Amino acid sequence: MRAIAVHEFGGQPVLVDVPKPVPGPGGVLVRLAAAGVNPFDRKVADGMMDGSMRHVFPLVLGIDGAGVVEEVGEGVTRFAPGDEVFGTFFQEPAGIGTYAEYATVPETNPLALLPAGFDPVVAAALPTAGLTAVQLVEALEPRAGITLLLVGATGGVGQLVVQLAAAAGAQVVATGRPGDAEMLLSLGAAEVVDHTAGPLTSRVHGVDAVIDLVGDGPGFAANLPAVRLGGQALTTTFAADPAVLTSRGLRGGNFEVRGTAEALSRLAESVSDGRLNVPVEHRLPLAEAAAELVRPRSTGARGKTVLVV
Ligand SMILES: NC(=O)c1ccc[n+]([C@@H]2O[C@H](COP(=O)([O-])OP(=O)(O)OC[C@H]3O[C@@H](n4cnc5c(N)ncnc54)[C@H](OP(=O)(O)O)[C@@H]3O)[C@@H](O)[C@H]2O)c1
Repeated sequence: MRAIAVHEFGGQPVLVDVPKPVPGPGGVLVRLAAAGVNPFDRKVADGMMDGSMRHVFPLVLGIDGAGVVEEVGEGVTRFAPGDEVFGTFFQEPAGIGTYAEYATVPETNPLALLPAGFDPVVAAALPTAGLTAVQLVEALEPRAGITLLLVGATGGVGQLVVQLAAAAGAQVVATGRPGDAEMLLSLGAAEVVDHTAGPLTSRVHGVDAVIDLVGDGPGFAANLPAVRLGGQALTTTFAADPAVLTSRGLRGGNFEVRGTAEALSRLAESVSDGRLNVPVEHRLPLAEAAAELVRPRSTGARGKTVLVV
C-alpha cells in the first residue's frame, strides 16, 4: 500500500510502498478515506517520543483519520467490516499512521462511528484539534463573561477554540496577521491583535485567561503579564513552568488532550447541527503530500490540512 513515511527520525517524509497492516487481537483494519494533518505528526517523526515508546520504521506519519473498517481482529466487539469510522490512531508502536491507504488501530482507541452522510475529510480534520479545543475551553474556569487572549487563533486548534469559547460566553481576543481579522471576527472573536506587530503585552492588559497554542517557554512567559492576578494560563506546547505561574498568582499550566469515542461522537454532533465549523484549508491527494510537507512547520496554517487517500 502507499503511505507517507520517514526512514529515520528527522528524515524527510516520502511516499513509500509498504505492506498492508494486519489487525491483531483487538485491532481494527481501516481503509482510510482521509487523514488529518497535525503538528504532532512531524514532532513524532522527528523523534519527540523516542525513549518513551517503541517506534517502527518506515514510520508512517499521522494520528487522525477517517475511513471504512475492512477487517477486525480476534475479540473485537465495537466494530464490524463496513462500519464508517473516524478517530485517533495514535498507538504503540508509533509509526502505524494514517497518512496511508490502510491503518490498524486498537478498538479501545478514541474511534467512533461516522454519522451518516458526514464528510470523511471533515471527520479526519476533527479528532485531535476538536478534542483539544473542546477540552481547553472546558478547562477555563469560569468561562462565561471572561476575556480570553488566544495566541495562535488562526491554526487548526485555534479556529475551533475561537468558536467554542465565544459560544460559551467568553470575549475572545484572538491573535492573527492583519489579513486574518475578518475571518477571526466571523468565527466569533471580539477583537483581533496582530502578533507580528510587537509584544502582545503592549496592547493586551488584564485578561482573565490566556490560551497559548504556539509559544515556547520564553514566548509563553512573555504573555503572562497580560493576565490579571488570579487568572488562568494554559499552553498546548508544554511551555509552562508551574513555579513561574504560582509566583505570578496564576492558575493553569500544561494541557494535554485526552480522547474518548464518546467525546468524538459529541464533536461530530456539534458539526452536524452547525454549532461548530471545521476549517479545512487544504485537501491534498496522498501521493502529493510528501512534497507539500516540506513547508515550514510552525507557521502559515489557516485551519486544517487533510490528505485525501
Ligand atoms: N498538548 C496537547 O495535547 C496538544 C493537542 C493539540 C495540539 N497541540 C499543539 O498545539 C499547537 C497548535 O496546534 P495547531 O494544530 O493549531 O497548529 P497549526 O494548525 O499549525 O496552527 C498554528 C497557528 O499559530 C500561528 N502562529 C505561529 N506563531 C505565532 C505567534 N508567535 N503568535 C501568534 N500566532 C502564531 C500560525 O500562524 P502564522 O502564519 O501567523 O504564524 C498558525 O496559524 C501545536 O504545537 C500542536 O502540536 C498540543
